[in-house]
Amino acid sequence: MTAEDSIQNKLSHIAIIMDGNGRWAKKRGLPRSAGHKKGAEVVQEITRAAGELGVKYLTLYAFSTENWQRSPEEVSTLMGLLREYLHNDIKELQEKGVRILFIGERQMLDSDIVEQMYKIEDETKDNANLTLCIALSYGSRQEIVATAKKIATLFRRGDIELEDIDIKMFSDMLYTKDIPDPDILIRTSGECRISNYLLWQIAYSELFFTPTLWPDFTKAELVKIIEEYKTRERRYGKV
Ligand code: FPP
Repeated sequence: MTAEDSIQNKLSHIAIIMDGNGRWAKKRGLPRSAGHKKGAEVVQEITRAAGELGVKYLTLYAFSTENWQRSPEEVSTLMGLLREYLHNDIKELQEKGVRILFIGERQMLDSDIVEQMYKIEDETKDNANLTLCIALSYGSRQEIVATAKKIATLFRRGDIELEDIDIKMFSDMLYTKDIPDPDILIRTSGECRISNYLLWQIAYSELFFTPTLWPDFTKAELVKIIEEYKTRERRYGKV
């Protein structure tokens, strides 16, 4: 960390747990699907805002490994919205120079969705304005176990020594190997927990919990959080 970093708190990466779609819909007497639909619109608005604010990386928790346990109807609504998003909304982002990455367990998803994900990643790989990382069928404990298995396999094969295993090697084998750790983690909807999201990567992130439900989250609130972040003292365990 340089002196300049400590004064201004450099901001590169914001990660968000987008929570509260269901409660937003319930408050209005609408089905949960209406909350998810509005939530998907806000995904696009906040991605635009992040680009405008000069954020370099935005990681959004779109669907967790645990979300597969929701009712078949709700899973189907979310997958439907995702298909629409991958086919329509992504175009605007592509034109704006956004690189798009996906993290999570792809084998759980339908093959047409996975195909589209690979296509988008390939088509946007040279974009350099904002990297949007979408966590889809993602679970952090699963990611950590998968990484431990990859390392154990390398060790068993004799490709690495025990002494080679360190924080950098582990980080470089996670789904997030191509992106820096989040500076800011935001969770909407008033819940104050991490829910199996980026557990390794948020070791030194600044945490923000807002009562705002995700469909009501705005660029103005994002700006307020960034302003507060700049006033926080990040010590990374030092005095
Ligand atoms: C939490 O609301 C939200 C999710 C399950 C994931 C976020 C999904 C979206 C924003 C919509 C689709 C996204 C894309 C990228 C197209 P909740 O249902 O847990 O709300 P609740 O806690 O109030 O019930």
